[in-house]
Amino acid sequence: MDFVKTNDGTNTLYSSEFNEHYHSIKDGALNESLNKHIIPAFKYLKQNNNNREINILDICFGLGYNSLATIYYLEDKLNTKINIYSPEFDLNLIKSLKNFEYPKEFEKYKNIINNISDNLKTTYKNFTIKVINKDAREFINSCEVKFDIIYQDAFSSSKNPTLWSYEYFKSLKLKESAILTTYSIATPIRLTLFNNNFHIYENLISTKKATIATTFKLDDLNEIDMNLKLKRNPNAKMLFDN
Ligand SMILES: C[S@@+](CC[C@H](N)C(=O)[O-])C[C@H]1O[C@@H](n2cnc3c(N)ncnc32)[C@H](O)[C@@H]1O
Repeated sequence: MDFVKTNDGTNTLYSSEFNEHYHSIKDGALNESLNKHIIPAFKYLKQNNNNREINILDICFGLGYNSLATIYYLEDKLNTKINIYSPEFDLNLIKSLKNFEYPKEFEKYKNIINNISDNLKTTYKNFTIKVINKDAREFINSCEVKFDIIYQDAFSSSKNPTLWSYEYFKSLKLKESAILTTYSIATPIRLTLFNNNFHIYENLISTKKATIATTFKLDDLNEIDMNLKLKRNPNAKMLFDN
């Protein structure tokens, strides 16, 4: 495994299949996971549907930073049952994860990582993680679980288009109050989410931006006016399967 050190000192990998790193080198793997996904998701998740459990769809597992960082961020803070479902079609990658050099923050999760690597699932305190060795679209279509949170962390839309299309977002099974987090700030992606009835917000992380998309209105962030964006940029197009 050729580890690639990112700017927060944590490791990622390069995918020669997709010609992309698994994480932003500039933003840092753990930093990106916490600030673009876990922290905003749990800050804005509305708990008004009396969730006795929270279902998370982690798209896709990769090195598992988002699933592991969820435990790291929430253990001892929240004792609601948290079920993480994460499709990943690269079984060799999952099997190799016990040899990956994770950040020191994940040191205590060695058993979790080994369990996932060997058995594709684990239970730890109030958390369960299930890695589904299938195409994500196939899993979403067959799964009956409704999700509270989606970590939308696929490779970029030019490399991984089936996980950013109108049809893909439409197929997500969501609870009434659901939140999707993504690193993408591209107008075509935001437009595709908007046309699937998501409210679109900017997630400002110091000088960096990411996107939060919700099925309900947030009180303390200004919603992005996508109709205005479209007026200013009439060539912006939604993404479709083709
Ligand atoms: C950007 S990486 C995910 C990074 C991950 N969140 C992490 O923290 O390491 C994208 C992952 O999606 C997987 N993938 C891409 N397309 C997929 C698909 N259609 N179904 C399942 N897995 C897919 C790739 O194998 C890769 O591991």
